[in-house]
Amino acid sequence: MQSLTITGVTKTFETPKKGIFTAVDNVSITIEEGKIHGLLGPNGAGKSTLISMISGILKPTSGTISILGVDVVAETEAAKKLLGIVPQEIVAEVAFTVEEVLYYFSGMYGVSEADRRVRIREVLRELDLEDKMHERARFLSGGMKRRLMIAKAILHRPKFLILDEPTAGVDVSLRQKIWAMVRRLNAEGTTILFTTHYLEEAENLCESITLIDHGKVIKDGNLKDIQQEFSKNIIHFELFDRSATHLAGVQETGNAYEYPMTALGEDMAKLTAHYGDNLKSIRSEAASLEDVFLKLTNSGV
Ligand SMILES: Nc1ncnc2c1ncn2[C@@H]1O[C@H](COP(=O)(O)OP(=O)(O)O)[C@@H](O)[C@H]1O
Ligand SMILES: [Mg+2]
Repeated sequence: MQSLTITGVTKTFETPKKGIFTAVDNVSITIEEGKIHGLLGPNGAGKSTLISMISGILKPTSGTISILGVDVVAETEAAKKLLGIVPQEIVAEVAFTVEEVLYYFSGMYGVSEADRRVRIREVLRELDLEDKMHERARFLSGGMKRRLMIAKAILHRPKFLILDEPTAGVDVSLRQKIWAMVRRLNAEGTTILFTTHYLEEAENLCESITLIDHGKVIKDGNLKDIQQEFSKNIIHFELFDRSATHLAGVQETGNAYEYPMTALGEDMAKLTAHYGDNLKSIRSEAASLEDVFLKLTNSGV
């Protein structure tokens, strides 16, 4: 089953300065259940606008979105129950304690009275916030507020969790905690969609990605396939005996060798046949997502 199906979604805004502005332009994305999917793009690409539409906060100008088969416009309330969302902006309920905030949200998401206290403790433990339970939300540090927002989003064990730039501006240790949590939730069966403009983060976490720029999808699919498609056309190899006679085209680079690649399988076979047991290692160089993005957009991220 598809966790998320976005079909031909466009969002335009009417602004005094720019007139009618298309923030999301005919976007179609599907995410299968159980995946970790990255939505990548530079600032202003349209990521948050798309997420606001998935979560039912904004209505698409055209197109449809459904979560596990539930249409988010026609059945907003039902769709919201399936969804946990961690927005990009930190929202803190300043007057309440961490526990009160979580108690209120778990009620709103239909966690039963009997389960609430237990569930709140569990979530606080997972996010390392237990000792802040009775602290007022306004006195938490930025990183703790972000963790509280994640706690709010996972209280009702949503099938589908969306995180909008969860690691923007957080320190290394919290970033690693967030990554670990994303992996654990995913292993327990939650489908995850997160946005980032850190390409390295997507390389670490995602199986599949969608790259967007200026509101349009510019690349979509399995991460490894995309990296392969954009891979640098070079095979690197090392030899045990460096006095071997070389194939035409082989270049020496320090302790290793490079061979220009035309067709991966054939070239690998050719090198293996020529050097045989003398080959110590052989690999083709995968493109980083940064290379992919630069090629597609002619811009950095
Ligand atoms: N409510 C709005 N009214 C007008 N323009 C908006 C509104 N929300 C977002 N935009 C514009 O849409 C574009 C995409 O924004 P956003 O979705 O926040 O990008 P991202 O999250 O990828 O950084 C930006 O140019 C932004 O200025
Ligand atoms: Mg954003």
